[in-house]
Amino acid sequence: MIFTSSIYKIPIIKNVIVYDETDSTNNRAKDFGKNGCVEGTLVVSDCQTAGRGRIGRSFSSPSGEGIYMSLLLKPDIDESLISQITLLSALAISRALINNYGIKTGIKWPNDLLINEKKITGILTEKCEDFIVIGIGINVNNKEFDENIAQIASSLYLETGMEFEREILIEKILAEFNDLYYSFLTEQNLKSIITEYNERLISYDRDIYIIPYEMTGKLNNSYQLKDESLPVYHCMGIAPDGSLICRDSYGKLSRINTGEISVRNAYQHNNPN
Ligand code: BTN
Repeated sequence: MIFTSSIYKIPIIKNVIVYDETDSTNNRAKDFGKNGCVEGTLVVSDCQTAGRGRIGRSFSSPSGEGIYMSLLLKPDIDESLISQITLLSALAISRALINNYGIKTGIKWPNDLLINEKKITGILTEKCEDFIVIGIGINVNNKEFDENIAQIASSLYLETGMEFEREILIEKILAEFNDLYYSFLTEQNLKSIITEYNERLISYDRDIYIIPYEMTGKLNNSYQLKDESLPVYHCMGIAPDGSLICRDSYGKLSRINTGEISVRNAYQHNNPN
């Protein structure tokens, strides 16, 4: 994978390490972190042999098609605020796509990006010792997906017909992330991006199911989730701490910090992650 030097113009980027192949860029970034690498170390690979997603899932990472990168950060913030950086990462990708390519994406809280109800990106944030690693996977130029995930996953190419220079897209995303990250370090909450985030939130002002965490691993095409067995909430958008504000059928508000949500009627049983 070739890289442009202009990425170093982005203040947060201090160090770029590029692989043709590795097991997982998150693993490499963690190794670098443990060996004392600075905040702003970016690991990028053309492909991954063991790309990881959340909840123990794998992330398909074929060569020449997607973006697989991990950014090592050492934010001087309380540990409870780290999950907010994941939401910022999703917004950074969404901004890069709309601002530079005119591509609109929906955000599936907290951090998946969807186009036409299909998942295009995933983010895996991991905390380790005194640093965190933000792992970003984007299906970019993929021309096809395995039959078992084609209903729920897609690529920028398949949804827009456009092919992308991955290096350029990475640079645009990191430029957006840079701005969001430094404002966040000052503000230590998401107040300034709530409106924008909610505008992209696919569940905003809609009825949703909140799917218990332990059920999400079984949520695939072979598992028929009984939606009727779950209570319905109305999604009111995110709070300044990144949690999801939900109203139950009695009008009681609650904030969801963990777990997964499914938008009612939007995906039936094929909810991406
Ligand atoms: C998810 O969809 O659950 C998250 C997927 C995150 C995938 C990225 S690809 C780069 C980095 N390395 C990994 O092994 N995972 C993340």
